[in-house]
Amino acid sequence: MGGILFFAEFILRGGAVIFVGAGLLRRRSLLKLLRERRSIRVFKRARMPDDVARLIVEAGVRAPSYLHLQEYSIIIVADENLRGEVAKLCEGQNELIMNAAAIFLICADLNRPARMLSLLGHLNILRSNKHPVESILAVFDAGLVTAFMIMAAEIMGYGSAILYHPIVYPSEFARLFQLPPGVTPLILLCVGERGEAPPLRPRLPLDLVFFRNFYREAGNEDLKKHLKELDEAMRREDYVRKYAGLDMDYLEYLKLMTTFNDETKKTYDAVERFLKENLMRF
Ligand SMILES: Cc1cc2nc3c(=O)[nH]c(=O)nc-3n(C[C@H](O)[C@H](O)[C@H](O)COP(=O)(O)O)c2cc1C
Repeated sequence: MGGILFFAEFILRGGAVIFVGAGLLRRRSLLKLLRERRSIRVFKRARMPDDVARLIVEAGVRAPSYLHLQEYSIIIVADENLRGEVAKLCEGQNELIMNAAAIFLICADLNRPARMLSLLGHLNILRSNKHPVESILAVFDAGLVTAFMIMAAEIMGYGSAILYHPIVYPSEFARLFQLPPGVTPLILLCVGERGEAPPLRPRLPLDLVFFRNFYREAGNEDLKKHLKELDEAMRREDYVRKYAGLDMDYLEYLKLMTTFNDETKKTYDAVERFLKENLMRF
């Protein structure tokens, strides 16, 4: 009898150890996946089965969302002609877009939440001219859903890249995807079979972004040091030439991408008009 009990206890304990061990391994591997994630911009040409794309979105919508409102919409580019039109709007990204296994347009959506709230019959904030909180949180919700989708794709062995073109050309994307008023195209999430193995890209030192109790202003020297390290890492990767086809250092590229000139002003005026009509009510 004692032997049986001992054996049972052994099995139980052993089982528990194995169970805890497996849980720990699973947690470790998830953490490893998060810590090793990097953007993949070169894909092998492939198309994702619908059920896999659905799994990614199902995981995505488990992200937290403000008031359960899920202020976002996700549109998968299923039609090849539409994919071609998307590629035309994303200058320089033709290969990435044509090869990606799946392309998701991620939108901030105040249209559906406003309609849902209207059904409750009260004077709701989304029908007013002032909803700065909801505007910002819609973008936040959309960001969270995107992050969850990226990780779901990683778990399934895919790589991914974000393209920012929809928010730069919102009217063009809205027309192409037949978005109603209140829906703002933000980014494209391109998921695909890895065709490159780039290094991990640098991050700011943790003590410049993560503080204890109070905000701590970074010193100029810290910022300069990071910019230098960023530049060097990008040079080692040949990042700017590889992805932007330009022969310049990353810091020059950063300046180029953030210079305010007549062209940016014109583009941003149009973005501002779109956002005022569809998203931002301040
Ligand atoms: C909102 C947003 C927009 C982005 N837009 C682009 C883009 O248009 N093109 C691109 O190649 N990468 C884009 N990225 C990816 C970043 O360049 C990338 O995450 C960053 O360089 C860090 O590299 P890593 O993701 O490999 O760590 C975007 C990322 C975010 C979050």
